[in-house]
Amino acid sequence: MKKSILLSLLLLVRSVAFADEGMWLPIFLKQLNEPDMKAKGMRISAEDIYSVNQSSMKDAVVLFGGGCTGEIISDKGLLLTNHHCGFSQIQSHSSLENDYLKYGFWAMTQDQELACPGLSVTFIIRIEDVTAQIIGKISPDMSESDREKTIKDMSGLLEKKAIEGTHYGANVRPFFNGNQFYLFVTETFKDVRMVGAPPSSIGKFGGDTDNWMWPRHTGDFSLFRVYAGPDNKPAEYSKDNVPFKPRHFFPISLKGVQPGDFTMVYGFPGRTTQYISSYAVKNTMEVNNPARIAIRTARLEIIDDAMRSSDKLRIQYAAKQASIANAWKKWQGEQKGLTRLNTIQNKQAFEKSFNEWAKLNGNKEYINLLDQMRRQYEELAPFSKAIDYINEAAYGVEMLRYAAAFNKLESLASANPLDEKAMLEEANRLLNTSGGFYKDFDATTDRKLFVAMMNMYFTEVDAAYHPSELINIQAKYKGDFAAGGSYLYSKSLFADSLKLQAFLKGFSVKKLKQLQADPAYKLAMSLRNIFKSKLEAPAGAINADLAILNRKYMVAQMEMEPTKRFYPDANSTLRVAYGQVEGYEAADATYYNHMTTIEGIMQKENPAVEEFEVPKKLKELYASRDFGDYAVNGTLPVAFVASNHTTGGNSGSPVLNANGELIGTNFDRVWEGTMSDIDFDPDKCRNISLDVRFTLFVIDKFAGCKRLVEEMKIVK
Ligand code: ARG
Ligand code: GLU
Repeated sequence: MKKSILLSLLLLVRSVAFADEGMWLPIFLKQLNEPDMKAKGMRISAEDIYSVNQSSMKDAVVLFGGGCTGEIISDKGLLLTNHHCGFSQIQSHSSLENDYLKYGFWAMTQDQELACPGLSVTFIIRIEDVTAQIIGKISPDMSESDREKTIKDMSGLLEKKAIEGTHYGANVRPFFNGNQFYLFVTETFKDVRMVGAPPSSIGKFGGDTDNWMWPRHTGDFSLFRVYAGPDNKPAEYSKDNVPFKPRHFFPISLKGVQPGDFTMVYGFPGRTTQYISSYAVKNTMEVNNPARIAIRTARLEIIDDAMRSSDKLRIQYAAKQASIANAWKKWQGEQKGLTRLNTIQNKQAFEKSFNEWAKLNGNKEYINLLDQMRRQYEELAPFSKAIDYINEAAYGVEMLRYAAAFNKLESLASANPLDEKAMLEEANRLLNTSGGFYKDFDATTDRKLFVAMMNMYFTEVDAAYHPSELINIQAKYKGDFAAGGSYLYSKSLFADSLKLQAFLKGFSVKKLKQLQADPAYKLAMSLRNIFKSKLEAPAGAINADLAILNRKYMVAQMEMEPTKRFYPDANSTLRVAYGQVEGYEAADATYYNHMTTIEGIMQKENPAVEEFEVPKKLKELYASRDFGDYAVNGTLPVAFVASNHTTGGNSGSPVLNANGELIGTNFDRVWEGTMSDIDFDPDKCRNISLDVRFTLFVIDKFAGCKRLVEEMKIVK
């Protein structure tokens, strides 16, 4: 009796503690989460969120571009996402004459909406559990390569069958480290146009200083529109395309949020690793994160300096800087969070009980699992550090990364027999894409990056992984990489767009020698050789072994805790996270409220610091307290935090209330909770959302773009 009370109490504590953790597959909400969601206040059903039979909320959620989420908010395909998700589109439409980064962009009429070549959005038509079909073809005694081949073949078959006679796409994806498989049928639209973006002084207010932080005042949104052919189906860009009529779009609620309110986030979280061993966490904390943070600190110093020095450089490097700075800051938060939570020690304690359980069950395979993982990670560490330095430091020098991409030209040009057509095509492709690269390239800035990065590479990376060309440069200039850099950037084709383009025009085999003698190309190839000859194979082999061990460890954990609700790690597939609006205790004696307002923008305003400039128009609206329908208690809400479990890729995700109405757009996590990709702390992990009332205020009052507000469905 006593024991069972204790046990159920324990289970209760555990399920309460893990209440808001999880990124759930929409197809299992009914089975796994609906009662819990309703208990937390949800007033709609799992079927409203995801249905195969009728239109449902999933029909208004898209994968936006490569790695963000967006939501449809009108019956004319209007799409809302983050400013930082639309950032590279805003940046590439910007010039010194039309500086949309600085002043914002608003299509006041539909014909002013700007085409965005290369941008696409993907809807999910349906999701199917195909685990049984795939696992049915696999036997436990199969070799790994046979297993892989069987999965690949079977996936291909299922994908083909799923989309026969349709314009859809399909892919089968592994879940739970390759223990389960799900089929996604998708519909991708390629004509997506830019509709509106606030100036960076709103959309990126607070910049990198406030990034990953709460309290936050960033108006992080931008608007796009999905266009379709006259038949409402996806079509390549054409003037004749029309706004897409969606199967569902989100109504927008002006009711706002109170602490304790149910919220859910519907989107495409990118990658988490919740079930890894302590050894994996150790590798992240002791090898990868420190190396990557140090390298990016050095790169950012140089890029930030350059961006401050001129408007031209500021525009050229804006998107690159934002993406380098973003992960750089997150890794630092993650380090702190994992340290504070004692994640390694907690995982070790779990591993101890895991080993005891395995012994008790006499499962030989499981008994050795963790020890094997430990050994693999010990072996991996030196390789993984060198690989980080190649990717982050050496290829952080843009000229080297760009030069490396010319390798294909070399192999085509020296092929025997020579396929002249293929070679000329490749030269032409390189010529046509070179403009894109040089548009945002500054040789002086890149040379400074070269000097810093080569120095770091040379001092930090084990001599066994020093490429011969780097050793040559080091010796020739007696360790003075500045002198080496001057030589390289004055001699190389790649430092000068005109020289490079002249080289590519009328390319022939005879010109190959010039490429092979180019000092930047030589260094890039030498780096590539080190990677290929000394790193790729051994690290690849270890990672392949680890993948198998992790797959087994995952099932083992599920067997060990049969009553626990497991959710699969994020893998850029559609998920639902749910929780409630709530503040948190950030540090000793520091409690943060759930919501920020425009008062905070004015408090942070600092005309002397670019990140904290406030646009004049916003100040005027503030002074006249002209907040329209969007005010609450006489002020204007900006952002709020809630306990939804989110990660990178969830940016731009719709944040919904208990009725499935849009109340915000997810755009970040709080600093104290950035370790949630590995270890979720219900006390501190909060997602940050832009309050939709601020979004509407900016569109309506600040930009005066009423036509957009009019096409939305607003619930008062
Ligand atoms: N931290 C957010 C995310 O992970 C937003 C980043 C954009 N802002 C910036 N200042 N870099 O994507
Ligand atoms: N800003 C992130 C993104 O681009 C979301 C923040 C997070 O990692 O949770 O997806």
